[in-house]
Amino acid sequence: MSTDIRRGLTGVVVDTTAISTVISETNSLTYGGYAVQDLAASRSWEEVAHLLWHGDLPDATQLADFRAAEAAQRRLDRTGQEVLRKLPETCHPMDVLRTAVSYFGAQDPTEDLADRAANQAKALSLFAKLPTVVALDLRRRRGQDPIPPDPTLGYAENFFHMCFGEVPSADVVRAFETTMILYAEHSFNASTFAARVITSTLSDLYSAVTGAIGALKGPLHGGANEAVMHMLVAIDDPDRVESWLDEALATKQKIMGFGHRVYKNGDSRVPIMQDALDNLIATHADDRVRRLAEVYTRLQTAMFQRKAIHPNLDYPSALAYHVMGFDTPTFTPIFVMSRITGWTAHIVEQLTANVLIRPLSAYTGPQQRPVPA
Ligand code: SDX
Repeated sequence: MSTDIRRGLTGVVVDTTAISTVISETNSLTYGGYAVQDLAASRSWEEVAHLLWHGDLPDATQLADFRAAEAAQRRLDRTGQEVLRKLPETCHPMDVLRTAVSYFGAQDPTEDLADRAANQAKALSLFAKLPTVVALDLRRRRGQDPIPPDPTLGYAENFFHMCFGEVPSADVVRAFETTMILYAEHSFNASTFAARVITSTLSDLYSAVTGAIGALKGPLHGGANEAVMHMLVAIDDPDRVESWLDEALATKQKIMGFGHRVYKNGDSRVPIMQDALDNLIATHADDRVRRLAEVYTRLQTAMFQRKAIHPNLDYPSALAYHVMGFDTPTFTPIFVMSRITGWTAHIVEQLTANVLIRPLSAYTGPQQRPVPA
């Protein structure tokens, strides 16, 4: 038996990447060499998406072309809409999204795996269509007809328009873009690694994205942003935070939105998102949100006092999406709308120097024995 088993691949470096790097010691994250806080402060979501796919920020012409291509591909065809409407209304929106990507894959069976430009075109098509799927499903849950995409609006404005029939104030749109920029890419996280494993078999991009959506859905990964919101609502009373936390820790529960495999001194993205959340609360919170925000702050303090564990990005993002008006089941699908950029950048990178990902295991089952007669 191997003596060097790294369960959960903890600390294992499995390949190189030029897309992003997480430096846990300095709590920093860069995309293509640019610090994520600088990107979040000065660049649009579309520019960051371009950076992840093409390795550099777009110039004005490239950005205009990128925006035009995205806006032109947002629509779902009639059959696609019917497929999604036929799904049980009780199914989770992540299941809807996963089914939608399968549908898009079934429509596009082209055998052009090694063609970088073809894969980037598929990625852009998904980038453009996923918000339409998420908005359609949000409205379906509310018994409302879908609102078609508006190509005259930017990505974020159009998403709000398709969800709610209106575009919120510029500060809300910018806070949303900040979440998109921060969620976009994070090296070999579980869902990205799942996408790379699937790609390494020379399967297609849609299959890899479908698998990544499945991996992101779990509450130890992307599903944590929904779980955070459920937790804040369940605690409800700021005065109950400490007793709730003590009980949860005593029963060995994981506190959603806290901890990280890579960062042990705090998630590099949290301070940026916290600022955005503070601004949202200052200008857009009602009494109910202010109460939840107090639960949020007290829980963060109590968690640090008891376990010295910091929040991860899902903690502030969850409350931010709530303040923006999204229902909780939409939170992880919005994460998908962002991470589709990172996933597909990694799929393309994996294909440029592919090697089958196939680790070993140490066997602990019965010794070889005869099959009973
Ligand atoms: C994301 O990898 C990425 O980059 C992911 C991500 C991305 O952008 O792609 O950043 C997005 O997935 C963020 C993480 C979202 N998940 C959660 O918020 C769920 C709650 N968090 C945890 O379950 C946990 O912290 C993980 C899953 C995030 C990390 O788990 P690890 O690295 O396997 O660490 P661990 O569970 O072994 O914890 C080490 C110690 C343990 O204590 P001891 O047994 O050593 O005493 O820390 C404790 C844990 O019990 N701990 C927690 C905790 N997180 C760690 N205890 C209570 N609540 C927590 N949240």
